[in-house]
Amino acid sequence: MAATVPDDLLVVLIGDMVTEEALPTYQTLLNTFEGCDDPTGTSDSAWARWSRGWTSEENRHGDLLNKYLYLGGRCNMRSIEVTIQHLITNGFNPQAKKDPYRGFVYTSFQERATKISHGNVGKLARQHGEKSLARICAQIAGDEGRHEKAYQKFSEEILKRDPEGLITVFADMMRGMISMPAEQMTDGVNPNLYLDFSEVAQRTGVYTALDYADIIEHLVKRWDLENLEGISGEAEKERDYLCRLPDRYRKLAERSMNKKKKATEDSPPPAKAFEWIYGRAA
Ligand SMILES: [Fe+2]
Ligand SMILES: [Fe+2]
Repeated sequence: MAATVPDDLLVVLIGDMVTEEALPTYQTLLNTFEGCDDPTGTSDSAWARWSRGWTSEENRHGDLLNKYLYLGGRCNMRSIEVTIQHLITNGFNPQAKKDPYRGFVYTSFQERATKISHGNVGKLARQHGEKSLARICAQIAGDEGRHEKAYQKFSEEILKRDPEGLITVFADMMRGMISMPAEQMTDGVNPNLYLDFSEVAQRTGVYTALDYADIIEHLVKRWDLENLEGISGEAEKERDYLCRLPDRYRKLAERSMNKKKKATEDSPPPAKAFEWIYGRAA
């Protein structure tokens, strides 16, 4: 089944699976959003029902990918499970600061990032003749697409009621980089595992700096920030900053990708060994 999937794509798929498998961390995060949490574990508020429903749906992603990789027989499942265990142990702080505004901006961004990433793995799998993986990834990307819509809708409602509040938070979060949930991953062997994995994701085109710029652009357009009215001078400045951001990021991304491309042509960097695939290089 997975025999036609090249090792670099396999590595990206494993990284994506590890990210999905750290779901306890994300459910914990949702429950830090003040007023939008599930204080008893069976609370009947809409937020609590959403957060449990979301978690149960997300739970399928890691399960399905894990089974696919296990049955494919090409990965070192022990190393992968060790990575998952470490990642959950290490935790993750996306700077939501208990604030649902920040939380929903973050999840609006991140669900779209996962949709793009799973979607691209699926497309590449199809190109390599692996139809079942293509189907699996398309299904997961579809779930992420619905999650993305929900979180963007929540943010849109906040924007209607408190435009300055949301703008301020969005701009503040964009001044830092949006952190990726898998940044703390380690297999106990390679201290640069996350960087090596992101490098392969970038090289295969599964998730690149251009996608980062595209996501910001999508959010700015989706929330129609350009035509937002009735905000103060300070918030207007933040709004203008946000509207200019996609272009700025795109230029930076293009420049750095071109530079890298040229450097790679001059002297290709050595492929990195991944314990996840028994030390084969990707
Ligand atoms: Fe997911
Ligand atoms: Fe999701």
